[in-house]
Amino acid sequence: MDGWSLCRTFGNSNFNIPTPPPHLKRISTLAILLSDKISKSSRSVQITSSSQEISSLSSLCVDFASASLTCTWRAPSSYLFIMASGNNLNGKIALVTGGGSGIGRAVCQILARDGARVSVCDINLQGAQETLASLEQPGNHVALPMDVTDKESVRKALSATQEKLKGTPTLLVNSAGIGGRSPFLEMSEEVFMKVVDVNLKGTFLVSQLVCNAMIERGEAEGGSVVNIASLAGKNGLALNCQYAATKGGVIAFTKSIAKELAKTGIRANCILPGAIRTPMMAGIPEERIAEALRVNTLGRIGEPEEVAEMVVFLLTERSTYMTGACVEVTGGHYA
Ligand SMILES: NC(=O)c1ccc[n+]([C@@H]2O[C@H](COP(=O)([O-])OP(=O)(O)OC[C@H]3O[C@@H](n4cnc5c(N)ncnc54)[C@H](O)[C@@H]3O)[C@@H](O)[C@H]2O)c1
Repeated sequence: MDGWSLCRTFGNSNFNIPTPPPHLKRISTLAILLSDKISKSSRSVQITSSSQEISSLSSLCVDFASASLTCTWRAPSSYLFIMASGNNLNGKIALVTGGGSGIGRAVCQILARDGARVSVCDINLQGAQETLASLEQPGNHVALPMDVTDKESVRKALSATQEKLKGTPTLLVNSAGIGGRSPFLEMSEEVFMKVVDVNLKGTFLVSQLVCNAMIERGEAEGGSVVNIASLAGKNGLALNCQYAATKGGVIAFTKSIAKELAKTGIRANCILPGAIRTPMMAGIPEERIAEALRVNTLGRIGEPEEVAEMVVFLLTERSTYMTGACVEVTGGHYA
């Protein structure tokens, strides 16, 4: 079921149901609440003014629909208005590279919260397994080793995903990436190429194999790819020319495949995060972080979840008119 939204009143069938806000789509009356599980469970729920009961109804709906559900307002009488909104990804399979840490981990957690089945892929299998353990209903998901620079490794992880989750991923997030810090004039070819291999070639290999699988299985319509680039790919970054170059490449790559894939029904977008609190940031000296924050509108580092929410939005049917886009999630970084 599409878990977009539901506005409904209880207690009086003649009540005039209000028009939902423009960003929400009303689905058929009582579609969620009359469904099997809710209708059975909700018999015991009294709809009154008690906030405790409102929250218990909310949790029933969340439990059922895996959609975030909030009681938005209550009429002065005994009518309760409920709006169920969220990204209901029930039944969808998502593959996330770099899922063992940072932004990739947060993406896996939000995907699982919203009902997707997630293949958590990472070169660091232990990290992927820790992510798996943190997901709601871990048995619905899988953690797999994958080196994005190695086509055979990607192929193996993709077929293990298909076997274990019984279907092909139609949602893909390329979050695997490495940074590093090295002055341009002294940088070795090896250092430069290592970053190219992971950040750029890896994004290409995984995207190509997963998109082809969607097309071969006739599941491309509604498919969505989100690549994690970086603000550095747009603005450049001193002492990180290799990193910035790969992220600029990911931006151009994403825009290009969006054009080629449009006819298949697959969308491709990328995210340009600013400074986000993850292990990748751990090695960056305090003074550089302070310097970055001086030109940041919100004046703080972002959290992985703040990026992941936008990633998941771009994966859902809430963003069907977006492809080839680069969305900055930076706290308003203006330099
Ligand atoms: N943290 C930031 O400030 C920031 C800013 C902009 C962009 N990004 C990008 O976000 C993405 C996620 O980074 P993060 O901050 O979560 O870092 P992170 O280090 O926490 O996570 C990166 C993950 O990628 C995995 N990985 C590395 N090489 C791999 C390979 N060859 N195959 C498979 N997995 C591999 C790592 O094991 C790790 O789990 C990266 O692409 C990064 O460039 C991060």
